[in-house]
Amino acid sequence: MPSIGYDKILVLDFGSQYSHLIARRIRELRVYCELHPCTMSMERICSFAPKGIILSGGPASVYEQGAPTVDPGIWDLGVPILGICYGFQLMMHQLGGEVARGTRREYGHAQLEIERSDPLFAGLGPNSTVWMSHGDKVYRIPHTFRRLAVTHNSEYAAIVDPERHLYGIQFHPEVTHTPDGMQILDNFVSLICRCNHNWTMGSFVEEAVRRIRDRVGEGKVIGAVSGGVDSTVAAVLVSRAIDDRFTAIFVDHGLLRLNEAEQVVSRLRNRLGIRLVAVDASERFLSRLQGITEPEQKRKIIGNVFIEVFEEEARKLGEVDFLMQGTLYPDVIESTPFRGPSAKIKSHHNVEGLPERMNLKLIEPLRELFKDEVRAVGKELGLDDDLIYRQPFPGPGLGVRCLGHLTRERLDILRHADAIYIDEIRKAGLYREIGQAFAVLLPVRSVGVMGDDRTYEEVIALRAVHTRDYMTADWVPLPYELLRIVSNRIINEVRGVNRVVYDISSKPPSTIEWE
Ligand code: XMP
Repeated sequence: MPSIGYDKILVLDFGSQYSHLIARRIRELRVYCELHPCTMSMERICSFAPKGIILSGGPASVYEQGAPTVDPGIWDLGVPILGICYGFQLMMHQLGGEVARGTRREYGHAQLEIERSDPLFAGLGPNSTVWMSHGDKVYRIPHTFRRLAVTHNSEYAAIVDPERHLYGIQFHPEVTHTPDGMQILDNFVSLICRCNHNWTMGSFVEEAVRRIRDRVGEGKVIGAVSGGVDSTVAAVLVSRAIDDRFTAIFVDHGLLRLNEAEQVVSRLRNRLGIRLVAVDASERFLSRLQGITEPEQKRKIIGNVFIEVFEEEARKLGEVDFLMQGTLYPDVIESTPFRGPSAKIKSHHNVEGLPERMNLKLIEPLRELFKDEVRAVGKELGLDDDLIYRQPFPGPGLGVRCLGHLTRERLDILRHADAIYIDEIRKAGLYREIGQAFAVLLPVRSVGVMGDDRTYEEVIALRAVHTRDYMTADWVPLPYELLRIVSNRIINEVRGVNRVVYDISSKPPSTIEWE
């Protein structure tokens, strides 16, 4: 956790799909914020020492059996609290108000009429458009509370207990459909909780380096680096903190893109001055993958061999105490007990289980950051834009983009086609606009004609998606002219390919990668 130097806001999660957004918004205000399940104990809440608490929305009804709840001790902490939707209803339920099913569900835009001036609505006019999504509603409020605003369907759209600084709002300020939402959150954080807006990336870097130094002491750290932005930023922070007591290990599994291995090594070793062990293990990976075409089997093998190689290299370094990982905040956020576990669609490869087996403690310098914050830290550390804005590349690499047999020849074909595709996307100035673009080699051949001869060769599929979070994605309508150039170049320049197709599927029901 960051030092006491930052003012902190705590968001307690009751299972709303918008809970993460609340945390995002508060951080956009440069105030440090964490999201925790509503079951967080009072002891942990107190040791987190928030300057304010926000209770999220959620799908349940407060009066149902087993509905998520919160330790009632929080109302007397002396810390301002803002309850949103379910959080508001829970506040009422616990403090003596009345909540029941509404006569009709209120969903979508509503007009908020502000009746009483309050810091929460500073800077807003008497009316404001807000976004509602609720079935239950508050019918009566405890006598210590005052009504601040109404909507057509909500008699209590916003309320306050002015003594205890407890606020409740029925609408969602965190979504963009509430145009004044950011102002309302800012008012809560700045005017009511009196937070300093000092959560900047410069201060994060200083703090992170100091914390790593304190934690590691005279110890040694190792970490796997892929060349992507997360592991590179994490590696630079650790290496700044403890110099060459940190060793980065880069495993080339032979499933990287054209010239990628050389570029990664040169960037980390020469440009960033990180002590790096680079291993070319492509032979071992490809021989273990020989004859394997089933996607999950490929993923498992790649994951296992990766761990094997990493472990061997790590052991060569002698006594080591810590393992660095580039874990980000979205991976850390504990899921609340009210969300069902999501089905496992693909097994992701990482070094799970390794810390225990090798008896290593974890160092995760980015575990408080969202992806765009990692990019901002990268900028702060002086990393080049090419790296910072690099599109994500999956751990198993071309292993999940070369469908069917993984041979050196087929991988070379894919690498070459992919390089042409990305080159043209860059030339068209579209690289940064696209979430992810790549070529896929299909496990079929098709008949073509070249000159007077019949050909029977490989097929390349091109994929490009727009996405915010990689959980859902839309295919990109790339300009025909660009597709024409890419197709011509691939068929003319890549031997063994006689057909190029474009993938027009969105996620869901497709996924971004083909395997
Ligand atoms: P899918 O194909 O599941 O991909 O829609 C979503 C995002 O995750 C990336 N991806 C992976 N990343 N290890 C990773 O580090 C993996 O095993 C893996 N599989 C998919 C994919 O590139 C996309 O950005």
